[in-house]
Formats: sequence, structure tokens, C-alpha cells
Amino acid sequence: MSIPFTVAATSPSMRPRTPLYRWLALFFIVVFIYYYLPTSTVVSIPRFSTSKASVYSSPNSSELSQVSWVKRVLKDYSIGPEITYATRTLQYIPDAKDRPLLTSVDHDLFEYGFQDLSLDTISSLPEGPSLGVHVKKLMRPSDADGSSLMIGVSTTFKRFNDKVNGPIKEWARWLTDGKGGSNGAHLVLALFQVTSGEINTARQHLAAAGINATVIASKRDLDMPGRYVDLVRMLYTHPMRSQRKYFALIDDDTFFPYMSQLALTLSEYDHNKPYYIGTFTERVDWMLANHVPMAYGGGGVFLTTPVAQKIAELPCLEKTPEGTYILNATEGDRLLYNCLHSYTEITLTHLPSLHQVDQFGDPSGFYESGQQPLSLHHYKSWHHAEPAKIHLVADACGEDCVLQRFQFKDNFVVANGFSIAEYPKGIDFDLEKVEGTFEVPQGDTQDVLLSYSFGDMRKNLAKSGRKRSWTLLDSRTESEGKVQQIYAKKKDDSRWVGVGEQLPERDSVAVLTWVP
Ligand SMILES: *[C@@H]1O[C@H](CO)[C@@H](O)[C@H](O)[C@H]1NC(C)=O
Ligand SMILES: *[C@@H]1O[C@H](CO)[C@@H](O)[C@H](O)[C@H]1NC(C)=O
Ligand SMILES: *[C@@H]1O[C@H](CO)[C@@H](O)[C@H](O)[C@H]1NC(C)=O
Repeated sequence: MSIPFTVAATSPSMRPRTPLYRWLALFFIVVFIYYYLPTSTVVSIPRFSTSKASVYSSPNSSELSQVSWVKRVLKDYSIGPEITYATRTLQYIPDAKDRPLLTSVDHDLFEYGFQDLSLDTISSLPEGPSLGVHVKKLMRPSDADGSSLMIGVSTTFKRFNDKVNGPIKEWARWLTDGKGGSNGAHLVLALFQVTSGEINTARQHLAAAGINATVIASKRDLDMPGRYVDLVRMLYTHPMRSQRKYFALIDDDTFFPYMSQLALTLSEYDHNKPYYIGTFTERVDWMLANHVPMAYGGGGVFLTTPVAQKIAELPCLEKTPEGTYILNATEGDRLLYNCLHSYTEITLTHLPSLHQVDQFGDPSGFYESGQQPLSLHHYKSWHHAEPAKIHLVADACGEDCVLQRFQFKDNFVVANGFSIAEYPKGIDFDLEKVEGTFEVPQGDTQDVLLSYSFGDMRKNLAKSGRKRSWTLLDSRTESEGKVQQIYAKKKDDSRWVGVGEQLPERDSVAVLTWVP
């Protein structure tokens, strides 16, 4: 499982589970597919322009009028000015007993359809009529209690401080109350090859975001796997340790969308007993290649105090005279597993609702499945998604309604925060199944590689003319409990036309407003 340290060091979270040669082979296969296969077999996912697109809504976006905000966002993404537009106000009613995979609503989503607009000439946008939808008891970020958790992450200052890809806006969603204060969880950020000035800068950024954190330098003589396992010692020797029950190791691109649910789930494990909790890769071939039931780091690894203590005391980082680990690992999460496996009787407690998210390509099958993944990962690298924007709606209808699916009578399905999909020829398939939208290396099929995590998947509807999808561009909290989302479908997105169908003439925009 070796990849050269230099490669790994620049991208700590992109850690392939395969030897380098297989990785290169995969790369060339992907290149081959893109260049040589007839275009009709390749589903390209137009990425909305990324220059300004990744810029998170500025804090003062709530002061803009709705029309100014929508215009600004659409301009940033080069959408319009001629668009078709639809809107709806959804009033959330927190009286549902549970939060199912799919919630049916006995009304149309867009009863007046889409209308043509020119953004250049309008000074206001039509108001969407209000419709009630039932959701579970509200658990907003301000209700989440993370005080049982201490979370360790090891990265570089450069990655941390990156204006576009830095993790702070995501961390602020699950480490704070959503209003600038901590939710009680403590973050230990270990930075590699960092100056004291950079440590201070990092501290200031975290404090400004409301994140309760300790920032320290990683030991300079440790390689990446060593720095990962050494996080356990940092957590175990932290002055706040005795007030914490669960010690988590994450990658810098791990996101927890359901903090209340996560804390509740963890509380089912007695923190005085030795628990090592985590999840597997979604890829059955990588599972077999690695050949061990280990917790894959990107999904989040949770340790109770007795396990953290053991790891802090064991010689996990011992090396041979040749400079390789005696425990033979080249990945941090594998080294952690090998150490527990070699020196203790502790085995993994598998929590499959955590997700490593190792699938490539179009992630919509995953985000539109209606499930509640307790963790997300790889959303800035192997696939593209913006969990901070997706998650904002938790400030309105609560965390359970993040990625909750609502099916309307006009064959629209909202996967809240991710997309609005229309099935113009009806829904004659099982929406409880995951749509097989992912990419896998040539010679294998999604069914073979991924069904062990997702079950037997349903057909990918891209290019069939049976699905059109508007993806989230941006969201904002307009006032307490009120969140607005802008979704868009570009006119040149060939995924949403069937064989022989014309591309639409206009970009299309849908705005949802969630109100109490
Ligand atoms: C705040 O909003 C105004 C427009 O009302 C904009 O010009 C300004 O750049 C915004 N400030 C920040 C910090 O985004
Ligand atoms: C973190 O929270 C603790 C209380 O739980 C407080 O004592 C400490 O000062 C906080 N640290 C930072 C950096 O905010
Ligand atoms: C590490 O690999 C060496 C050589 O393949 C083997 O002899 C040794 O038993 C391995 N150690 C562990 C802990 O797996």
C-alpha cells in the first residue's frame, strides 16, 4: 500500500488505498476513457465555474434584498441573464415522528411552473406561494452538544489557510452553534512544518469562526502516518482530556452533517470501555486489497479513553533500521489498526453510517439517496460538493432535514441542500434505491465495486430524458429560522436531455425559501 511520502505530504487527505502502479493505471484508464471512448458513453458533469464559485456567501449576504443576492450569485456562476425561474416557500412543520428516506408531499412543488425572466430588467423576483412540509423535531446547530468530543486533525498550514479550499467554513458548520459560538466540541489542529506566526494566525481564524481549538505543531521528525497516529497522544495528553469521552481522528476534509445524531450515536458506546469505531471504504476491491477490517480515516475514527490511552502508550511508531515502520504500514489509519491489532485484542466497531466516500464521478446518487450519512469526505477532491452550503438549511428546518428528500405530486424530488430533480416521464422506479451515478475503473462495474455499501443500485438516468436536475449554487440565512437556496440547471448540461432532444435555450433557476 505504498505511495511516496512526498506525494502524500502535499495532500494528506487524498490517500489512495492501492499501490502506486495501480493508481497510475487507474489514471491512464480515466484519461483513455475521456479521450477515446465515444462521447455518448461518458457522462460529463459540467462544473459550475470555479473562480468565484467557491467563495462562500459573505456574512452580509443576508442584508441584500433577495433579488440582489440571486443576481449576484447567478453572475458569479455565469448564469443568465435570460433564465427560466420558479420558486417556492416551504414552511417546515416540526411534527413528524421520524425522518424517512422519502417524505411525500401531497401538492405540486412548482404549481405555476417556470417563467421566463431577464435578470437585466427585473427589480424584484416573484414570491413563491407557501406550502407546509412535515419534518422531525428541530435539532439545529444551536441545539447540538459536542462537549463529549475531542477531535484531532493533522494537516499543513498551507492547506488550512487556503482561501478557496481551506476547511474553516465547513468546520464552522459542525463545530459551532451556527451563530459564532462553540458547540462544545474541542478541535486539536496539528500543523506540519509551521512557524509560530502561522500558529497564531490559525488560532485567530479558528477563534473568529467560533471554533474551540488548540493549535500545535506536529513533530517535525514524523512522516504522515506517524503524525496521524501521534494525534492520539496529543489528544490523550491534552489538559481537557478528562472532560471528554470520545476522541476522534479525522482528515481535513471530513464533515459531520448531523452533530446531534452523531453525539447520540456515540453515547450508545460506554466511554469507559475500549471502543475503536469507524467505517470501511465503499470500494470492495480496496477492502480486499487492504485485507483488514480497519477504520478508514476519512470517515472519522472514534476512540474511547481506554483505547486512546493504550495507543498513547504502545510503541506504534517504532521503526526498523531501514526506516520503515515495524508494523509495516504506509498510511496513518492502517498504522493505527496494525498497532491495535498487533498489541491488543481491540477490534473495530463498524459504524456504516460513517462514510469514507471513496467513489468518483457524479456524486448525486449518494447525496440524493435520502440517507443521513454521519460523515462526508473527499468532497473537494474525488468528487465535488459543498457541504457548508448544503448544511446551512439546518439553521431552519433542523439537521435531520439536511439531504432529506421530499417528493411532490408534479414529479419533483428535493434532496434538501443538494438538488431539485424533476422526472418528466414519471417515477416508475424505486426511489429507495441509490442511483448508480458513480464512475469506476474500466473493466469493473459500479455494481461489483460499490453494491456492498450501497446495495443493488438503480440505473443512472443521465442522458435518458427521464431526469432533469437543478444543483445547489448557494444558500443564505435570511433571518432567524429562514434559509434561502438557489438551485440551477445550465442550458448546455447535456445530462438532462434524452437522445434526439434539443438542449433548452435558457439556463434555469429555482429558489426555495424555508420558513418557520
Ligand atoms: C457587503 O455587501 C455589499 C453590498 O451590499 C458588498 O458591496 C460588500 O462587498 C459586502 N461586504 C463583504 C465583506 O462581503
Ligand atoms: C475552549 O473552551 C473551554 C471551556 O470548555 C475554555 O476554557 C477555553 O478557553 C476555550 N478555548 C478557546 C481557545 O476558545
Ligand atoms: C512486516 O513485514 C515483514 C516482512 O514482510 C514481516 O516479516 C513481518 O512479520 C511484518 N510485521 C507485521 C507486524 O505484520
